[in-house]
Amino acid sequence: MRDILPPESGRWRRFTAVFADVVEAAGYQQVIPPLLEDLGVFTRIGDATDVVTKEMYDFVDKGDRRVALRPEQTASVCRAFAQHRPPVLPWKVFYSGPNFRYEKPQRGRYRQFDQVGIEVLGVDDPMLDVEVIALGWEFYRRLGLQQVSLIVNSLGEPDDRGRYVEALRVHFEAAGEELTEQSRITLAKNPLRVLDSKRGPDQAFIASAPQIADFYSGDAAGHFDKVQAGLRALDIPFTVEPKLVRGLDYYRSTIFEFQGGTFESAQNGLGGGGRYDGLVEALGGPATPGIGFALGVDRTLIACDDEGCFPAVPLELDAYVVDVVGGLEAVAITSELRAAGFTVDRSFENRSMKAQMKQANRSGARFAVIVGQTELTEGTVTIKPMGPGDQFNTPRTEVATMLASIQNDPQDT
Ligand code: HAM
Repeated sequence: MRDILPPESGRWRRFTAVFADVVEAAGYQQVIPPLLEDLGVFTRIGDATDVVTKEMYDFVDKGDRRVALRPEQTASVCRAFAQHRPPVLPWKVFYSGPNFRYEKPQRGRYRQFDQVGIEVLGVDDPMLDVEVIALGWEFYRRLGLQQVSLIVNSLGEPDDRGRYVEALRVHFEAAGEELTEQSRITLAKNPLRVLDSKRGPDQAFIASAPQIADFYSGDAAGHFDKVQAGLRALDIPFTVEPKLVRGLDYYRSTIFEFQGGTFESAQNGLGGGGRYDGLVEALGGPATPGIGFALGVDRTLIACDDEGCFPAVPLELDAYVVDVVGGLEAVAITSELRAAGFTVDRSFENRSMKAQMKQANRSGARFAVIVGQTELTEGTVTIKPMGPGDQFNTPRTEVATMLASIQNDPQDT
C-alpha cells in the first residue's frame, strides 16, 4: 500500500476528473459503493479466481459478520442494483476508488490500488458493448497514451461456454501430471481459467487447447460479429484473442482488455471488462444483463510516465503575499485574492523580508505581492514578478484587478 503524495496526488485527481468528463458525456452517473461489503457479495465473483480464494482482505467484524474490503467494484454495483432496483434502464453508472487484493507487490501491482470504471445494467445489445469499449478507448486517447492495444474475445452464450468448458476439462485432464499443480487445482474449479496460466509447463497444453469460436451458437457468433463491426465503424483497432478469458469468473459473451505497450506481460493489463449477464441474479436481483470495465489508475499512470504523457504538474501559485508589517495585511490580501479566483499562499511567523522573499521564490509563484511600512502608509502594495520584469506599486484597493490584467502577459507591465 502506498502513499500518493503531491504533486502526484494532483494527477490522480485530474485522472478521475478526465474520466468523469468522458463518461458523463455518454450519460453515465456516479455511484459510490462502500469499501466494505458482506463477504458473500464477493464470493459471487467466483471460487476459481485468486482474487476470491487467496487475495481477499476478509475478516469477522465486531458484530460477528463476515465482511471483506472490496477487491473490485462490479460485484458491489450489482449488489446495489439488486438492492435499490433503479426504475429506469439501462442503469449507466461510473465509479472510482480503491480496491484491495492481497497480491505480491511489484511495479504495477499493489495491495491497495485504484480503479475507475463503468457498468451498464439492463440492456443486451452488441452496440452497447461497442459504446463501453469505445469509452475506455477514448479515455486513453484523452490521456495521450499511444501504445494501448485492445484485445477482445467472446465466451459465447452460457450453453456454449458450458460445452467449451467441458471440452477444456477433457483436454487438460489428458495432460495429467504434466500440467502444473496450480493449474490442476484451477482445472478442478474452472477449466477456463487454466487458459490464463502464465506458467511455462502449461503453455504447450494451452496452445493446443480447443478454441471457443468452435463452440459459439448462432446468437453468440452474431453478437460478437456485431461488436467487431461496431469497433471497425469507429476505427478502433483491435485483435481477437481466442485465449483471452480474464481473471474473474463472472464473465459471459464479450470480454476485452486494454494492454499497455511498456510493461512486463503479467502487469500489462491497464484495464479490462466484459459482459457478466447472470451476476445480478446471483446477488438476489432479477435476471439482468450487464457489461462494464475497470481501468487501473496506478498502472495507467505508470504507462503515462513510460510514454511521457499526462504528467504530474506541481501546484501553480499566482501570487505569494509577503507582509512585513505584522501579518494582518497578508490575511486580508490572501483572502481577497483567493475570493477573486487566484491561487495564493503567504508566509507565516513574521519572518524577515529576505526570508519571506526566499519563500516566495521557492513557492514558484508568478508574483510576490509585498506590503512593507511604506506601502502600508501609502495604501499601496508592491507587485514583483518572480521571473523577468520590474516591480511596481499599485493602490491596495486595486491589487486583484491589477493581478488579473498582468497575469496573461507580465511583460506588459
Ligand atoms: P480486473 O482485470 O481484475 O477487472 O481489474 C481491472 C484493472 O485493475 C486491471 O487491468 C489493472 O489495471 C487494475 N488492477 C487489478 N489488480 C491490480 C493490482 N493488484 N494492482 C494494481 N492494479 C491492479 C475488474 O476488476 C473488473 N471488475 C472489471 C470489470 C468491470 N468487468 C466488468 N465490469
